[in-house]
Amino acid sequence: MEYVVTTDQLTKTFGSFTAVNQLSIAIRPGEIYGFLGPNGSGKSTTIRMLCGILEPTAGSGRVVGFDLATEAEKIKPHIGYMSQKFSLYDDLTVCENLEFYAGLYSVPWRERKVRILEMVEMAGLAGREKELVANLSVGFKQRLALGCAIISKPAILFLDEPTSGISPTSRKMFFNIIQRLANEGTTVMVTTHFMDEAERCSSIAFISEGSLIANDTPDNLRNKVIEGVLAELEIEDPMGKLQEIERLTYVKECSVHGSLLHVLLEQEQHLQELQAVTRGRANRITPSLEDVFIALSRKKRRAETGE
Ligand SMILES: Nc1ncnc2c1ncn2[C@@H]1O[C@H](COP(=O)(O)OP(=O)(O)O)[C@@H](O)[C@H]1O
Ligand SMILES: [Mg+2]
Repeated sequence: MEYVVTTDQLTKTFGSFTAVNQLSIAIRPGEIYGFLGPNGSGKSTTIRMLCGILEPTAGSGRVVGFDLATEAEKIKPHIGYMSQKFSLYDDLTVCENLEFYAGLYSVPWRERKVRILEMVEMAGLAGREKELVANLSVGFKQRLALGCAIISKPAILFLDEPTSGISPTSRKMFFNIIQRLANEGTTVMVTTHFMDEAERCSSIAFISEGSLIANDTPDNLRNKVIEGVLAELEIEDPMGKLQEIERLTYVKECSVHGSLLHVLLEQEQHLQELQAVTRGRANRITPSLEDVFIALSRKKRRAETGE
């Protein structure tokens, strides 16, 4: 199978509101496909359609070879799904939760014991199998929820903001597991607000108001979206000088990043001019995905307002 997921003009409307607008994407086996966009842009709605939970209004799609509109029930046994509100049973033990999901996903009896053991190991819960889930910290709960979602070795795993509300250390551990799964051949589609996680994706789709506005590898996005030379500018009172800098003829964009400004210049030679004019220190930097998203959002706004 060349693609695990394909959609063609996939659309979902709620009454007169269009939540997902003619979305066409393709996901290859073993990819970590980052699905990014502001709150309310249609990420969860898309994932629900791909999981066969929500019927598309228009357009079409295939997941693991089955049609979304006519074969949704055939898709379900091949996918794993985990949302922000991971559904564990607090009053069951670690093992009982895994046994429950092994049953739900019809993991063959002879494989269950081994599979549960593997998931306990993966979650770092060896020795705590009999502990109630209620007593686990959020990071452990999240890794256990992941174990429940992949206990049946699904071909594709959908993760909808799986790392919201957990510590940076746990987030990193979680993404290491995701990367290992992908290396072993599991396809992963993940939504996240964290740019360090987006950087670890093999492909990124960025949606805004239900429409796809960019789709490429992180490196290609950096090279294609940012047209110009990006500089990090260290000056006094960056907020106060923002407008003045934006008015310079060779400045294409200017945005605040903590105590620094990121200034997009037309050419390399403008670095020195910028330093001279602002009496600050300007260094050329490699654009982060955050810079890419700021640029994309601006481009979209400009296209809409016709500026
Ligand atoms: N069942 C529903 N009925 C009506 N509107 C919905 C429903 N589900 C989602 N929406 C709306 O669709 C838009 C996209 O929602 P969602 O897919 O949850 O966005 P995201 O996951 O990107 O934050 C939002 O404006 C949301 O309010
Ligand atoms: Mg969502």
